[in-house]
Amino acid sequence: MTQSSTTPRPLIAGNWKMNGLSVALDEARAVAAALDERPAAARVAIFPPATLLHRLADVLAGSVVLVGGQDCHAKTSGAHTGDISAEMIGDANGTMVIVGHSERRTDHGETCQHVAAKVEAALVAGLEPIICVGESLEQRQAGEAVSFVIGQLHNSLPASLKGQAFSVAYEPIWAIGTGHVASVDNIIEMHAAIRAELISLFGEQGGGVPILYGGSVKPDNAAEILAAPEVGGALVGGASLKAKDFLAIIEAA
Ligand code: 13P
Repeated sequence: MTQSSTTPRPLIAGNWKMNGLSVALDEARAVAAALDERPAAARVAIFPPATLLHRLADVLAGSVVLVGGQDCHAKTSGAHTGDISAEMIGDANGTMVIVGHSERRTDHGETCQHVAAKVEAALVAGLEPIICVGESLEQRQAGEAVSFVIGQLHNSLPASLKGQAFSVAYEPIWAIGTGHVASVDNIIEMHAAIRAELISLFGEQGGGVPILYGGSVKPDNAAEILAAPEVGGALVGGASLKAKDFLAIIEAA
């Protein structure tokens, strides 16, 4: 793994999205048991649907596997049917939260301003956020991928992140759930641009913020992606649902 001066452990994060009934807890148990036996170089986190958050945190208590929410509201409480707050994630023993996932931005019309407000709420609640950015296929084909993603990043990161633990996830929309993984050259170019923006925003701290890649990461492509410069981990969707696949990706880090 090639990274800038202050290199933290890579982070392998499993985003279960809207998948997972009670039986899925067994997969998480299997991940924790395997890592207990063979400790991983990477930090590992699972982001279950909100219905499983508390139970998953109980199952993983005492293990190395961290637990987080897939989204949070910008407010602490109130009349927001169906939403959960960052404080609620913490109350369920989650320690992390994903914000700005493209599925939230698309399905729920979340703007960068919403995302930045959610990041603020996460920090107030003591959660470590993973902030997602990524371009559409049209934007990539128009040659606007880097400028779009850097603009998105700039507008999604509040100044209050200074001095706080957080990660950025680059997830090209066209690579999510499609089996079309971005080329290593594309990943290298984008991660370098993200690193430069992080350093310009946060100085030395920006040099050490993990930049995860997400989009069709699988056991058979994880090692190559994770070895690329400035790739500090992976945000894994489909392949995080089965312990065997997720563990193979963790081992590749
Ligand atoms: P897939 O790994 O299923 O492509 O999902 C990526 C993703 O969106 C993770 O947040």
